[in-house]
Amino acid sequence: MIEALNIHKRFDDLKALDDASFKLNDGEVVCIVGPSGSGKSTLCRALCGLEKIDSGKIIYDEKAIDFNNTNDAKIVHQKTGFVFQHFNLFPHLTVLDNLTLGYLQNKKGSKEEAKALAVELLNRVGINDKLDAYPGNLSGGQKQRVAIARSLMLKPKYLLMDEPTSALDPEMVKEVLDVMKDLAQSGMTMLIVTHEMHFASHIAKRIIFMDEGKIIEEASAFDFFNHPKSDRLKQFLSKMLY
Ligand SMILES: Nc1ncnc2c1ncn2[C@@H]1O[C@H](COP(=O)(O)OP(=O)(O)OP(=O)(O)O)[C@@H](O)[C@H]1O
Ligand SMILES: [Mg+2]
Repeated sequence: MIEALNIHKRFDDLKALDDASFKLNDGEVVCIVGPSGSGKSTLCRALCGLEKIDSGKIIYDEKAIDFNNTNDAKIVHQKTGFVFQHFNLFPHLTVLDNLTLGYLQNKKGSKEEAKALAVELLNRVGINDKLDAYPGNLSGGQKQRVAIARSLMLKPKYLLMDEPTSALDPEMVKEVLDVMKDLAQSGMTMLIVTHEMHFASHIAKRIIFMDEGKIIEEASAFDFFNHPKSDRLKQFLSKMLY
């Protein structure tokens, strides 16, 4: 289980996270939605140690994590795969090398084992024919599927995704959402920041609504859309097309 407890994060006067707490239970898929600037990415970045928090606790499997401690940071990175809006693939490396780099750096196995796993994962995301291609020669949807395959190389227990489809052309969104659906159905524990409301309503066990750094409401997917409680969420949903 991943837990965030009373997280506060300021950028000067701006409260990016204001007493945010939530839990991600093993085997659960939770989506985070909310308006632009509400703190969703900051929360994701805090959970992977890319953003230092001012106060509060981040707990992975009952262990409070101090990202200043390299051992703690290592624990998080071994347990968790991260996928961001802008792929972050290395442009000078082939798809295969993008996938195997972290595996080999972490001494998880031999080059042959790394390649076999990479091929298996690329098969899973439907692009096993792109092993030797460079990211620059892939479509956005293909790049993101490579990024997802890469995030699975260390066999993570958790997958954290921050708007994995929002930089994609509309016709490529579905191929990435399908891969995410497949992962969810395989039992992967996932936290997904998304603007895809229709997708969230189908895939999420719970949905969290953030605004102004706060977690305003948390509900089952059904209740979230059919029985929103707070005025802020009602207003947000009324402006959404889904
Ligand atoms: N490095 C930074 N320095 C200063 N302010 C920042 C920084 N990162 C984020 N912020 C601010 O913190 C607030 C929360 O930003 P965040 O990126 O978490 O929002 P978000 O919910 O992910 O928005 P979006 O849906 O547009 O991605 C915003 O007001 C943003 O401008
Ligand atoms: Mg964001």
